[in-house]
Amino acid sequence: MSILVRVSAEQPEEVIDFGTRANSKRSSAPSSRKGTKGPKSPIITIRYLGHKRDVGPIILQKMNLRWKNLGQLDLVDAFAGSGSFTLRCGNAFRRITVNDRMLYSYELCLAVFTRPQLTYQWPPLPPQERLEDGFITQNYCTSRRFFKKSNGRRIDFYRTRFSDAHQNGLSDEEFHYDMGCLVLAADRVANVETSYYSFVQQNGTYKVEATSIPSEGRFRPRAVEDIFVHPPAPGEVEGAESLIGRVTVLNRDATLVSIDPAVTTSNSVLYLDPPYNYRPYFENNHVLYVIADPSYNPQTQGTVGLPPDNQRPPHSVWEKSGTALEQLDTILSTTKATESCSATCETGL
Ligand SMILES: C[S@@+](CC[C@H](N)C(=O)[O-])C[C@H]1O[C@@H](n2cnc3c(N)ncnc32)[C@H](O)[C@@H]1O
Repeated sequence: MSILVRVSAEQPEEVIDFGTRANSKRSSAPSSRKGTKGPKSPIITIRYLGHKRDVGPIILQKMNLRWKNLGQLDLVDAFAGSGSFTLRCGNAFRRITVNDRMLYSYELCLAVFTRPQLTYQWPPLPPQERLEDGFITQNYCTSRRFFKKSNGRRIDFYRTRFSDAHQNGLSDEEFHYDMGCLVLAADRVANVETSYYSFVQQNGTYKVEATSIPSEGRFRPRAVEDIFVHPPAPGEVEGAESLIGRVTVLNRDATLVSIDPAVTTSNSVLYLDPPYNYRPYFENNHVLYVIADPSYNPQTQGTVGLPPDNQRPPHSVWEKSGTALEQLDTILSTTKATESCSATCETGL
C-alpha cells in the first residue's frame, strides 16, 4: 500500500481520496478531487507551518496508523538530504538505507550515520597566519560572506589535504567520510539561515540572490565561532547514536534505488521526499556542493556565487512536475517495497 503525505500551510488536516486508480500500485498521480475521509485513503494532507525537518514525527505517526509492524521493516530514505527524517524517525525501523544523488548529502550522511575505522591521520591545523586563501575563501568569504575568512581558510586547508590524501591512495569511503566531517562542520558555522540562497548582512536582514552584493556584513552568532572539523563524537548529532551500525549510505538515483531489489525489498518501507519543482535544489546548497567536491572549482557569479548554467550539475528529473510523476509511477509500479510513503510539500511533485 502507498500513501502520499502532502504538507500544506493552507489546508486543514484531512484525508483526500483521489479515486480507485490510486488504490492500485500504479497510483501515483493525484487528482484534485476531494473525496470521503477514511483510513484507507492514499493521500493525507497535513497542515503544517514550520521547518520541514520537524514534520518527520508527524509523518511517522501517520505511517504507524497505517502499518502496525514498522519495527520489523527496513526504511529506504531515498531522498535523504541531510538525513533529518532518518535522524528523527529511523529508530522506528529495523535497518535503514539513506540515499541522495548530491555528493554533499552523501558525505554528510556518512559522517552522521557511520563510524568507520580511520586509517588516515588528519594533519594538524596550522596557525592562522600560515593558512592560505583557497577557492572557498576567495569565492565565498570576501564580498560573499558565507563564512568568516579564518573559517574559509580552514575549510580550504582540509579540502586540499583530504583531496591530496585521496590522490595518494586514501580509500573512496574514508575520503568521503572525511569530507562529510568537513561539510558538517562548515554547515554549522555558515552565515546563513537555512539555505545558501542568501547570507546575513549588516543590518541582520538577508542578502538574497539577484540583489547587489554588500561590502560589509554582520555575522550570525554561530558564524563567528571557529570551525572545528572533527569526526562527530558519540551523542554529538542528536538522534544518530542509536542508528550507528544500522544505516547504509548510498549516492545513487532515487528511482534506481527504489526499484533495485538488492536495496528495496519486500520488507522495506520506501520513504520518498522529492525536491521542490520550482527551484533546483543545487541553488539552495551550492556552497556545500562546492566544498564537498575538491575537484569542482567552478566560476562563481552573482550575489551568492552560483556557477554559470553550463557548470552546474544536471537538473534532477524530480525537479519538474511532469517527469517527477513519471518517476513516481515507475517506482510504484516496479518497487518490491510493500509499503511506500511519499511526503511532499505543495511545491513538490
Ligand atoms: C526535499 S529534499 C529531502 C530532504 C530530506 N528528506 C531531509 O529530511 O533532510 C530532496 C532531496 O532530493 C535529492 N534528490 C533530487 N533528485 C534526486 C534523485 N534523482 N535521486 C536522489 N536524490 C535526489 C536532493 O539532492 C535533495 O537532497
